Order: sequence, then structure tokens, then C-alpha cells
Amino acid sequence: MTLRLGDIAPDFTAETSEGTINFHEWSGNNWAVFFSHPRDYTPVCTTELGAVARIKGEFDKRQTKVIAISVDPLDSHAGWIKDINETQNTTVNFPLIADPDKTIANLYDMIHPNASDTATVRSVFIIGPDKKIKLQLTYPASTGRNFAEILRVLDSLQLTANYSVATPADWQNGQDCVIVPAVKDEDIPAKFPKGHTVIKPYLRTTPQPNL
Ligand code: BEZ
Repeated sequence: MTLRLGDIAPDFTAETSEGTINFHEWSGNNWAVFFSHPRDYTPVCTTELGAVARIKGEFDKRQTKVIAISVDPLDSHAGWIKDINETQNTTVNFPLIADPDKTIANLYDMIHPNASDTATVRSVFIIGPDKKIKLQLTYPASTGRNFAEILRVLDSLQLTANYSVATPADWQNGQDCVIVPAVKDEDIPAKFPKGHTVIKPYLRTTPQPNL
């Protein structure tokens, strides 16, 4: 199934390392990050799950739940999680979906046959509280993801959702934001009381509004 930004993230019920989960119910009114791993007991995936577990508090601060998927069964996940805890200096503290028949992987188009017939690519979906897909990323199996970038995108998405701002290239939390084109010049002072700068009529910036 081809999924696009703005589509409703398909719902599913799955067996996970933390019990049976219905995805939409589980995410509730939160944001969600849903990411796939090629297989259990693979080296890059091991480091990725450890990395996410170590920064889980950062997702919590952003009202964001995280969930991973790997196309192996639950008993395999249980053994692999022990290895991750042992080697990555952490405790895996979010659910890992078991998807041995690849139903969910196919639902989210996580298997790219020209890359591999059997393993998922490294997909990331960020899903809003409205259940709509806000971001998707696809990495090859050989490249571990940068989860600081996922947090950065979450910050940007949440600023846009709450304050009518966008974020410029290479933006980092704390830096100036761009006022979205839909905001009329005359509405800027009331909407952005911290001030604003007009660099060009179409390029207007303001200090980050939520600080
Ligand atoms: C890994 O997760 O380590 C991995 C999986 C497939 C190919 C290369 C690396």
C-alpha cells in the first residue's frame, strides 16, 4: 500500500513485546513514531533499538510514543531484547511488534523487493494525534538512523501544529522560525508578540514562539 503524507496511518492489532496492541488505541492523543528494522539479531538494528531506549525520555517530553517492528516472532524478540539490554547499556522500554507473516510491514510498504524480498527497509513514520502521517523516511538496511533528527523533526512539526511557524534549513531547537505564508502581514504582531523580521515579503522570521 502506498502511503503519503496526510493519509491516515493504517490501524492494526499486533502482538508486541509489551502485549497485544491496537495501534490507534495505543497512540491515543499522542504523537507516535513507528519505525521498522530489517531483522532481529542484526548489528545495526541492535544499536538503533538501544539508541531509542536511551533517549525515550525525550520522546515522552514531546508527548510522543515510540514503537518498533521487526518481521520476526515474539520469542525471537524476547531473546534479542535481552542482548540489546546487555550490549547497549539500556533497557528497551517501548514495544517491539512481531510481524512474522509481514502483514503490517506490507500495510506500511516497508518491504522493498529490489532491496530485499524478506527484510524490511528502515522506515520511519511520524504520526500526529489526528492519526495522519506527518513524515516518512526510508533508509537502507546498512545505514543506522540519526534519532536526534527524528526529535528535531518532531519539534518542528509540533511548532507548526501549535504556532503557524515553519523551520528553516538545519534549524535547531531555540533558533528563529519562519512565519508560514498563510499568515497575513497585518496579523503578525498579534500572533508573534516576540517580534519579527521581514527579510523579503515572503521570508519573515520570528523567535521560536514556545520558549
Ligand atoms: C543490521 O541491522 O545490522 C543490518 C541488516 C541488514 C543488512 C545490513 C545490516
